[in-house]
Amino acid sequence: MKTMLTGIQSTGTPHLGNILGVIIPSIKITNKLKNASFLFIADLHALIQQKILKLETIKNNTYQITAAWLAFGLNTKKNILYRQSDVSEVTELAWYFNCFFPYKRLTLAHSFKNEKKNNYKKINVGLFTYPILMAADILLYNAEIIPVGKDQLQHIEITRNIANRFNKKIGKKLFLLPKAFMKKDTMSITGIDGKKMSKSKKNWINIFTSDEILKKQIMSIHTDNKSYYEKKNPYNDSIMSLYKLIAPIDRVENMKKKYLQGKYGYLEAKKALYEEIIKKFYVERKKFFSFIENKSLLDRILFLGAKKAKDIANKRLQYIRKSLKLI
Ligand code: TRP
Repeated sequence: MKTMLTGIQSTGTPHLGNILGVIIPSIKITNKLKNASFLFIADLHALIQQKILKLETIKNNTYQITAAWLAFGLNTKKNILYRQSDVSEVTELAWYFNCFFPYKRLTLAHSFKNEKKNNYKKINVGLFTYPILMAADILLYNAEIIPVGKDQLQHIEITRNIANRFNKKIGKKLFLLPKAFMKKDTMSITGIDGKKMSKSKKNWINIFTSDEILKKQIMSIHTDNKSYYEKKNPYNDSIMSLYKLIAPIDRVENMKKKYLQGKYGYLEAKKALYEEIIKKFYVERKKFFSFIENKSLLDRILFLGAKKAKDIANKRLQYIRKSLKLI
């Protein structure tokens, strides 16, 4: 039986991309698996952004992500929901991996290469070793199913590579090779600017906010400047691509028809998308707001999650230390 693991960085409130791409599909998988899945809030990864992120927001975002998982119905009795920094064992494993992975290869990671191009002077060592910590997140629990967005594929590749190198050196199959789990339609969700929705681009749709702000976000989705009367292209349009993921198929077909016929403005399409989002996530939004008001409950859930994760991590680490002949 395989184990599933995924993490969301606490750099912001979970947005629609996180929800459709990671939270919903992951919960579906956890319900199918017999054994516990690992879901964690990657606050150590978030810390890499300390230059642009207010430190006090990381903890707050941790609560937001925890509440989001719970609002979507994650069963925390069966599964393990925890804060990355609560299981410090992962940083020890990351160190071992540092010693096994060639520096030169790490310089090829997109996360580093892209930043290096834009602002070389601002890069910290944490950003450089980001994929190593991610490999430790996964391999510490020998997870094999990793639901992630498309931008994380290379990190999973690096993780497999590290596992292979380690296994070879040790001479046994200490680490299993993980695979990314992605669904074609949700591996990259369109943001309000037409590019992939991401926290760093600030182009997200956040459902865990007031109706008013949610509406404002949707109203600011970029479109071309075709008038109300003109025929529109439903195949290359941000509103449509989001609507398809939220609305039932008959309403999607209906909107497609209206696009092709004309006499249907983007404003109306945006309103329809807004209504659909409000309807679809009615229960989850309500639950989210009640969880977020109950920090002591969230603390308790995270505490119990950390305890379970730490227990497993400790045993694994002990075995890894022995395999490395450190003890
Ligand atoms: N890097 C991931 C992201 O930004 C978050 C993450 C950290 C993660 N560690 C992980 C995802 C381990 C899956 C598995 O989306």
